[in-house]
Amino acid sequence: MSDNAVEVSSAEEGAPDETYEMKISMSVLEALGINLYSNAAAVVSELVANAWDADANLVEINWNAGGDDAFVEISDDGRGMTREELKRKFLTVGYSKRTTEGGLSDGYKRPFMGRKGIGKLSVFSIADTVEVHSARNGERNAFRIEVDELKKRIEDDKAYHPEPIDVLPALGAHGTIIRLTNLRRRRIDVALNALRKRVARRFDVLTLVAPKAADGETPLDAVKSQISDLRRMIEADPADTTASNALAGLFYVTLNGAPISFDDRIELKKLEYLWEFGAERIPAESLAADAVRTVLPASVPGDSTWLVSGWFGTTARPDQLVEDDEAGSLKNIMVLSRGRPIQESILERLDFSRLFVSYTTGQIRADFLDTDDQDDIATSDRQRLMEDDPRVVALRDFLRAALLRASDQWSEWRPKRKAKEVLANNKPIKDWIESLPKYQQDPATKLMGTIESLSIPESTDAAKDRRRLFQSGIIAFERIGLREDVERLNQLSTMQTDDILTVLATLDSYESAMYLDLIRARIETIQSFKDDVAENVLEKVLQEKLHANLWLLDPAWDRISQDVSMEERVFELAETFGAERPEEDALKRIDLRYCNVQNRHVIIELKRPGVKPDIDVLYDQGLTYIRALTQILEETGRSDEPYEVIFVVGQKPGAKKSPPSKNPDDYSRERVAELNGRVFRYQELIHKARAQYSEYIEKNKNLTRVAEVLDALSD
Ligand SMILES: Nc1ncnc2c1ncn2[C@@H]1O[C@H](COP(=O)(O)OP(=O)(O)OP(=O)(O)O)[C@@H](O)[C@H]1O
Ligand SMILES: [Mg+2]
Repeated sequence: MSDNAVEVSSAEEGAPDETYEMKISMSVLEALGINLYSNAAAVVSELVANAWDADANLVEINWNAGGDDAFVEISDDGRGMTREELKRKFLTVGYSKRTTEGGLSDGYKRPFMGRKGIGKLSVFSIADTVEVHSARNGERNAFRIEVDELKKRIEDDKAYHPEPIDVLPALGAHGTIIRLTNLRRRRIDVALNALRKRVARRFDVLTLVAPKAADGETPLDAVKSQISDLRRMIEADPADTTASNALAGLFYVTLNGAPISFDDRIELKKLEYLWEFGAERIPAESLAADAVRTVLPASVPGDSTWLVSGWFGTTARPDQLVEDDEAGSLKNIMVLSRGRPIQESILERLDFSRLFVSYTTGQIRADFLDTDDQDDIATSDRQRLMEDDPRVVALRDFLRAALLRASDQWSEWRPKRKAKEVLANNKPIKDWIESLPKYQQDPATKLMGTIESLSIPESTDAAKDRRRLFQSGIIAFERIGLREDVERLNQLSTMQTDDILTVLATLDSYESAMYLDLIRARIETIQSFKDDVAENVLEKVLQEKLHANLWLLDPAWDRISQDVSMEERVFELAETFGAERPEEDALKRIDLRYCNVQNRHVIIELKRPGVKPDIDVLYDQGLTYIRALTQILEETGRSDEPYEVIFVVGQKPGAKKSPPSKNPDDYSRERVAELNGRVFRYQELIHKARAQYSEYIEKNKNLTRVAEVLDALSD
């Protein structure tokens, strides 16, 4: 028990000068204390801010929130408070620091963070018992506030007298310890790491690089000896301004012994792009090596004293900004004034809807929001600002413009960066891009970068999903590329990532599947057709193949609508006209087919390759079908629709009945023309298919190329 404690406890009840007294209304206690803060970091920040104002160099937070003897202790090595100051400053709600003491601390001339005289009430939102221990000018005092009793006194309309208690032995020669017990579990249930990060983020005056610890020294020891060395130097030579400036700037916060450092500014290391106001101030070591930095103007239009510093930046993926529950989302830009938060997130206030904001985090300092000579525009919890203050309006406009510009740059830069990553990590895509004509390579690269930069929700299928997107993107690109539509290619590659998702989503489900299947099927068919030819397979195999692939007859015939009932009717009717089914049932329809190709009625008659058909027999057959077909068309009011008869034969048709005056070939040709028909020979088809094959492959080197990359990307 210290002497001072004796002194305090010897203070007689009823001697108003000696007794601690706290006057507060219930509504103030509840609104500005108990209910103001829901997160522990904000409370801790109030105490850290008070320590800053008290010219502390070190704030030690001891967070022992678990177990029966849970407590939280925040000690600082600042100037401390005398008994009189405890009463007049600490215990007075609404103590108006800046009007009483001016704008700067008296030791280190730090601009005061405190202003309202209510910050200390924040502790009541996490603890029901609050002890304050403070030492100054040889005075050592301590008292305890019990919230329950405080409330009772308020209800009874009586002044509350915090109980004097023994001073904690840990209290230094000067400084303050706030000890909190009877903690409110729900509000203090926070992971230590999260707390560190949150506190780290809420100040930009913290010294985040601790001195190197000597052998056997803890980091906290190292910090302490750095401070005491400097203090000794100044004591020895009060004119040593280098030492005193260095000391004035030192402000360490430790949590359970470990100094908060740049490692707790995890978001910094994750930044891909960083925009800083005024100058590059973040040390390069605390950033990723390949972070891209841009400096933006610092001056807010409206007043020459309105200057901002600080930064905002983007991470590779939005989920990197969601750390853990308590640290909360970093997806915001915090506004600090005089080194402490004055607005938790200004992003929401900017009506900025671009995707960019999901990647953005930042910490902006705007000291002009809190000047001693102007109105206080922070709300009590310092989470928001008076929205209509001209300074706030100007800052918002300024930030909105800065973000717009940054977001344009980001949309341009990021796909390129991502493209580099894709090219480095994905060989098939790299090969695909290199296989494209020169003029297409740029947009293709950008498109791949855009896809790589899309954020796909983390899941076991994420990699697969992304491969799908690449496939769809490649197909979309090839489709347009085949038409050589550079304009549209460029559009595709500069699309905003959210638009491209929509485009690819539809492509993925529909077009890509169809197009890809078509490409693959054709390549395979032509290949097998070629093999068949090589093997001299002629008869039924080719017939079947032809029927299944009418596009071999005409490359444009790729969308055939099978109309089975029409087919039935044509052939039934033709039979009544005396047409013979040329083959028995077993071969039904194999050598005769009706189809509708691009709104054209086509009848295809296949002749056995070994048979030499007679042109008049063909003519009669053809005519019968045409009669049947035209009759049906007439009956259904479609007599104007075009039709055609095609014969596929093994040998050139003979012309037994050709008039002696005529060349048999000419006669055959005339007869076919009369029917509005065409005659193909298998050999000719094979030849054509071969030519087509190589032409197809040649013209669309694309397709094998595309097939390759798509295959490589499929699971
Ligand atoms: N750790 C401390 N060391 C020395 N003095 C302190 C400390 N904490 C509080 N005080 C004194 O108590 C006063 C009241 O603190 P409080 O946080 O309630 O208000 P404030 O800091 O003045 O303003 P604000 O409400 O804006 O924080 C301070 O102005 C300061 O004089
Ligand atoms: Mg304060």
